[in-house]
Amino acid sequence: MWLLLLLFLAPQQLGFGLGLVHNLISNEEYCKDDFPSGFVFGAATSAYQYEGAVDVDGRSPSIWDTFTHAGHMSDKSTGDITAGGYYKYKEDVKRMSDMGLEAYRFSISWSRLIPTGRGEINPKGLEYYNNVIDELIKYGIQPHVTLFHQDLPQIIEDEYSGWLSPKIVEDFTAYADVCFREFGDRVQHWTTFNEPNVEAIASYDLGSFPPQRCSYPFGLANCSAGNSTIEPYTAVNHILLAHTEVASLYKRKYQVKQNGWIGMDIYTMWMSPLTNSTEDIIATQRALDFLIGWIINPLVFGDYPEIMKKRAGSRIPSFTNLQSEQLIGSFDFIGINYYSSAYVEDDIDLFETALRDYEKDISVKMTVSRNETPTSVVQALSPFASSASLLLLLSDNFCSMLHLLISV
Ligand SMILES: *[C@@H]1O[C@H](CO)[C@@H](O)[C@H](O)[C@H]1NC(C)=O
Ligand SMILES: *[C@@H]1O[C@H](CO)[C@@H](O)[C@H](O)[C@H]1NC(C)=O
Ligand SMILES: *[C@@H]1O[C@H](CO)[C@@H](O)[C@H](O)[C@H]1NC(C)=O
Repeated sequence: MWLLLLLFLAPQQLGFGLGLVHNLISNEEYCKDDFPSGFVFGAATSAYQYEGAVDVDGRSPSIWDTFTHAGHMSDKSTGDITAGGYYKYKEDVKRMSDMGLEAYRFSISWSRLIPTGRGEINPKGLEYYNNVIDELIKYGIQPHVTLFHQDLPQIIEDEYSGWLSPKIVEDFTAYADVCFREFGDRVQHWTTFNEPNVEAIASYDLGSFPPQRCSYPFGLANCSAGNSTIEPYTAVNHILLAHTEVASLYKRKYQVKQNGWIGMDIYTMWMSPLTNSTEDIIATQRALDFLIGWIINPLVFGDYPEIMKKRAGSRIPSFTNLQSEQLIGSFDFIGINYYSSAYVEDDIDLFETALRDYEKDISVKMTVSRNETPTSVVQALSPFASSASLLLLLSDNFCSMLHLLISV
């Protein structure tokens, strides 16, 4: 099993990230030599946050275009222009090289490569990603490709509700096949999904990401459709099945020839009990199971954590024996996106309601500082809930996290 570590940053976080790197390096406790010789430093972007050029050269809208154009971002921003990477990738790769980055992870916009979702490849889209990859290779920077960073083609959402339908598995696999075939001669690091756990929570429980689905009394938005009690679990189930199908395709058809690795990235945060009460200790394990075990347990053990099955009951799908077998070991690495840490407090009141969403199923409160009153999970999930505590806790907890992942 491979564990690949990179410092991944979205463009708007670059300033913050560089500060973090600077602090780690200028702090006498850490320097680059302290990391193993194979440790790779890099940065990352996602297609919708980076490329711009959303209606150029045949790209069709993704669900993020629809969402931002409907004015759903609190600052009314859109991805129409962003960093303009579609035009400026050469300058950017040059800067990466000047900074000494060894790897760059970017995601492919499915609706730029295959505007109709399935079928015909857009030659301009193909050309763009070939150019980016060639430019990186020219500077000796490893290209790491994420196949899916939340920007589902709108046409697929319209046709069968995207990740809520098992039909997505076939279409996503066909799209991945195109990527392996066209780019796999130069790309050796493939990430199927970026933070599927966050996607499921934000898109289907809270309604704060497209396709903005949630149901009263849950959610942070006024969603016109959805069901927060069940859809987060349904979406992750299809994401896991799609991941397995794609990983199996890669291993069967491409890996021997292309010598690459395939895995998945998950959103992580380390959690510690707020107090030493048995309730808080159990609640902490439960919260880790819901956030991280939700994705990792199926990939390692072939099933969801027991506590999730117990709490969500029939709302969480079951895997068939065949699906379990296919899930187990369907990765070469697990990527962790690590932002922050939190203290966990048990909250039985949340659980004792007849109707529960994912958040109520966990029934905890969290805080990023012992001096603050614990609030909802959602609040603590915010990446920059407290950057100060991030710096303090990163060093303490990163080793626990690595231990967790290596020992699974
Ligand atoms: C939802 O709709 C209600 C009633 O129109 C409004 O008061 C509230 O601000 C809306 N909430 C959000 C998050 O848009
Ligand atoms: C959501 O799904 C659950 C389980 O199927 C059902 O009991 C509930 O009525 C649904 N809620 C809505 C808002 O459709
Ligand atoms: C919990 O117990 C450990 C070990 O005895 C101790 O180090 C820690 O300070 C305690 N934490 C709290 C919040 O009481």
